[in-house]
Amino acid sequence: MSQKLNEFEKELLEYRGEQYKADKNMVESLLQKVNRPGIHVICEWLDMKQKNGMNFYESPASTKYHGAGIGGLVKHSLRVYDVFQDLLKKYRQNQPYPKEETIILSTLCHDICKVGVYYPQINKSGEYDGRGAFKFNDLLPLGHGEKSVMILQQFIQVTDQEMMLIRYHMGPYDPILKTWGMEDKINEKEPLCFWFYMADHIASKIEGLED
Ligand SMILES: [Fe+2]
Ligand SMILES: [Fe+2]
Repeated sequence: MSQKLNEFEKELLEYRGEQYKADKNMVESLLQKVNRPGIHVICEWLDMKQKNGMNFYESPASTKYHGAGIGGLVKHSLRVYDVFQDLLKKYRQNQPYPKEETIILSTLCHDICKVGVYYPQINKSGEYDGRGAFKFNDLLPLGHGEKSVMILQQFIQVTDQEMMLIRYHMGPYDPILKTWGMEDKINEKEPLCFWFYMADHIASKIEGLED
């Protein structure tokens, strides 16, 4: 047990240098623009270690796909923040633009369901398998986008638009879209869901694979 944790903690410590500070400063300075009660509680929660020994900043974004190393989740979330705005500016110029605080909250928190669900992979010798070796174990399986919304709602009032963007950010990867008529209903209620999904897709499946 101690051997495996030693190696894992060494990696965590490596990340907890300049990169960690820069990521945390960036996320917190953006979230502080969300002028809503409870935003400071979210900032505290993001910095709180979960049962797997990692907080939001340290979490990977996946086991072996995009952002599969320590710090992968915050990197991915910040990238979605940038890409979503790029897409809106390029393709939605003359359409209603979401509030800045909606862009910030939705992009940075769309994957907070991933906090606390990736555990260091331990090999048969009982040792940590090394960089980017994680296994998925969600002790509170409440879905993906829907779980991110539920976590946020514990701390802050979330608008309908934010709920829609976060809940449906997996786009066609989400089986709910296969339910008859659901895709049309989602797009009709919130056309930006498609662009939010595109931002997540670009950041994870197109750019993120090299992480
Ligand atoms: Fe996601
Ligand atoms: Fe994502």
